[in-house]
Amino acid sequence: MGGKMSGSAAEGWNKERVEIGVLGLGVVGSGTVQLLQRNRAEIERKIGIPFRIKRIAVRDLYKQRAVTVDRALLTTDAGEILDDPDIDIVCELIGGVDPAKEFVLRALRNGKQVVTANKEMIAKEGHLLMEEASARSLDFQFEGSVAGGIPIIQPMKNALAGNRVVEVMGIINGTTNYILTKMSQERANFGDVLREAQEHGYAEADPTSDIGGFDAQYKIAILASIAFTSRVHVQDIYVEGITGIEAADIEAARELGYVIKLVGIARRVDDDRMQVRVHPALLPQSHPLASTNGVYNAVLVRGDSVGDVMFYGRGAGSGPTGSAVVGDIMDVCRNLRSGSTGRVACTCFEHRSVQPIAEVVTRHYLRMTVEDRPKVLAAIATVLGENDISIESVVQKATHSGLAEIVWVTHEAPSLRVVQALEEIVRLDVVQSVANWIRVEA
Ligand SMILES: NC(=O)c1ccc[n+]([C@@H]2O[C@H](COP(=O)([O-])OP(=O)(O)OC[C@H]3O[C@@H](n4cnc5c(N)ncnc54)[C@H](OP(=O)(O)O)[C@@H]3O)[C@@H](O)[C@H]2O)c1
Repeated sequence: MGGKMSGSAAEGWNKERVEIGVLGLGVVGSGTVQLLQRNRAEIERKIGIPFRIKRIAVRDLYKQRAVTVDRALLTTDAGEILDDPDIDIVCELIGGVDPAKEFVLRALRNGKQVVTANKEMIAKEGHLLMEEASARSLDFQFEGSVAGGIPIIQPMKNALAGNRVVEVMGIINGTTNYILTKMSQERANFGDVLREAQEHGYAEADPTSDIGGFDAQYKIAILASIAFTSRVHVQDIYVEGITGIEAADIEAARELGYVIKLVGIARRVDDDRMQVRVHPALLPQSHPLASTNGVYNAVLVRGDSVGDVMFYGRGAGSGPTGSAVVGDIMDVCRNLRSGSTGRVACTCFEHRSVQPIAEVVTRHYLRMTVEDRPKVLAAIATVLGENDISIESVVQKATHSGLAEIVWVTHEAPSLRVVQALEEIVRLDVVQSVANWIRVEA
């Protein structure tokens, strides 16, 4: 394609092609550049204008890359992109807050549209960056930041925008979902599956961000802020990872008709409050998210008009996340052509507080090891009852060496009451240990 496009070119937009600068050529940068190269003709036809990747910033010019690019495009000086008056769109695919945030601010202050996949930066500093973009009527797009290739930000900001969102619930971390799925399918221990996942490249050498739930925390912060039009402070989000999940929990859950998943939950409580939390949860096997297995992600959005909408797909990786980034780039190109950049501004115009986890009401799964003798069940049930926790079901599991394992599923109760009850239960002579406490979601 060549030559100037006719028709819809906006006033002031008279360039013959869109110039793109890319910061970072790692997993996502490579996937993005590869897709732009592979489907160039089709992409240009769809957006109605040619594009060029003018420059790519990296740290190491000589590193082996997963995509073939002209070495001359590479630079170690991000300023060559950020300060180049010819560049229209900057794709920030470096990651982390520092120096990504400063790079993005500089790009915006230089009048550039920005596309990013950086969940940590959006969750922590997104409000600042969006304000900066809004003030300059610039696009600031971040579809790739949540659930990789799954379109979720754009649908929530556009197609679903008329709804009052009641809840967003997602399996938004592929590593932990892979580990829990393997533990379930192979009845294996957490440590063994984690090691295997690291060997296969499904888990990082330092898996803390994934297995500790922090990666999911950033993502649910972003989803909650869009769903409830309120800024969400990352530090207000309750986070519990999967390191405490044992094969015995998965087995007990299965016998009770549940699966265990690491979920991010954003739920409207009332006009002023929302729940935003990340933790393992028992989901009924019939739950829409329960069959999301392996590295796959899924997000369930519950709107007052649309009802339940499920988004399912690959939540990470080069190709899937590149797909989301390229979609954003194309959207920006169209906005540039029609002179409508900055159309969808930040929607956090209300203030809602995050309900403290102690007040959050759910059902609860409790697994404990007790002495195998009469009246033990009654003693524990009494403590639960005294704390206003009623019992939905109780199962006594295999006994050995005079010990029995008891699994309780309670009716709904606030977390605080469970904390108080467990403090008393562990002091009972007949209770050897409380092995686990996991929330149960409907
Ligand atoms: N990986 C995924 O599946 C995935 C999915 C969704 C979202 N994301 C997000 O996408 C972003 C990128 O992740 P990634 O996995 O692609 O990371 P990555 O593989 O570590 O790539 C980071 C890239 O940034 C470059 N870089 C780092 N600091 C730089 C600097 N100061 N100046 C110029 N270049 C710099 C690195 O250069 P060198 O190559 O020379 O070291 C590398 O090419 C992150 O925000 C991440 O959270 C990732």
